[in-house]
Amino acid sequence: QEYTAEINAFSASSAEEVEAFRLRFLVNKGIVRSLFDEFKTVSADEKRTLGKVLNEFKQLAESKHQSLLTKLEGAADQHVGSSEDLTLPGRGFELGSRHPLLLVRKEIVDIFKKMGFIVAEGPEIEDDWHNFSALNFPEEHPARDMQDTFFVEKKEGNDIALRTHTSSVQVRMMEMGKPPFRAIMPGRVYRNEAISARAHCFFHQIEGLYVDENVSFADLKQTLYQFVQELYGEGTKVRFRPSYFPFTEPSAEMDISCSICKGDGCAMCKGSGWVEILGCGMVDPNVLENCGIDSKKYSGFAFGMGIERVTNLKYEIKDLRLFSENDIRFLKQFETEI
Ligand code: PHE
Repeated sequence: QEYTAEINAFSASSAEEVEAFRLRFLVNKGIVRSLFDEFKTVSADEKRTLGKVLNEFKQLAESKHQSLLTKLEGAADQHVGSSEDLTLPGRGFELGSRHPLLLVRKEIVDIFKKMGFIVAEGPEIEDDWHNFSALNFPEEHPARDMQDTFFVEKKEGNDIALRTHTSSVQVRMMEMGKPPFRAIMPGRVYRNEAISARAHCFFHQIEGLYVDENVSFADLKQTLYQFVQELYGEGTKVRFRPSYFPFTEPSAEMDISCSICKGDGCAMCKGSGWVEILGCGMVDPNVLENCGIDSKKYSGFAFGMGIERVTNLKYEIKDLRLFSENDIRFLKQFETEI
């Protein structure tokens, strides 16, 4: 009874006092234990009544200890709470942002959609036929070389590789359907190149294809001219230089007047005032025939541009590696873009 009264009256305001309680009652040499030791010596008759009393006493000591601990923790919480300045502004959540390459891809896609182009995609792991042969690449063409292409699997007559350009999607599209075709095909492409500020082992392209009766080089020029006016602003100049691609004839490269230095000379246009942004040309009749399309009836144009390059020009990004490093400090800068 004496101990019960002591326990009921006990209060603690510190961890040390709670610990003192535990040491007095609950440890091996504590009061509860010693009472149980004494209990062994009493007569069988007394055991019946005393046993119940002792068990209740033990429970009381244990639950008291628990409640002392709980109170102490509650007090600790309150202490922290009260020392916090509730008038401080909260910490905001970090919001993600769109990747600059996706922003530009969307912008390009939207412009061509307005001109009636649909969007199509193809696989990144391609076979030799779709990436090279159907596109009129001669057997010994250097682009098939190990140096440029990541081969996945050597197969008799039809190696499997990571596509080196999105032109492979042109082939898939033409094989699958009937003209007219009017599509743009964005995607990632791979080339076995040393990684530097200006080259990477993967990058992104947007392919364009328009095949119908009577499609001419004039259509190609007008479509691309209109595209550039929308992307870089009214009055941006374009020029076409003759070029060579196995799958287009004639072929050209298109330059635009430098949007960064406006012709005064900068690193992007190397002082020339012009920057190359895409390759294009009239689809070679061999390619049409390879895809089962009558080249006497149909003609078409195709173009392919690197999204990184267009993005560099728009945002003046000088190191390609930034696009794939996922550095938050870089990505955060595009938070305010749509
Ligand atoms: N596939 C070419 C490249 O990767 C670009 C291109 C596409 C050129 C379509 C002409 C027509 O360089």
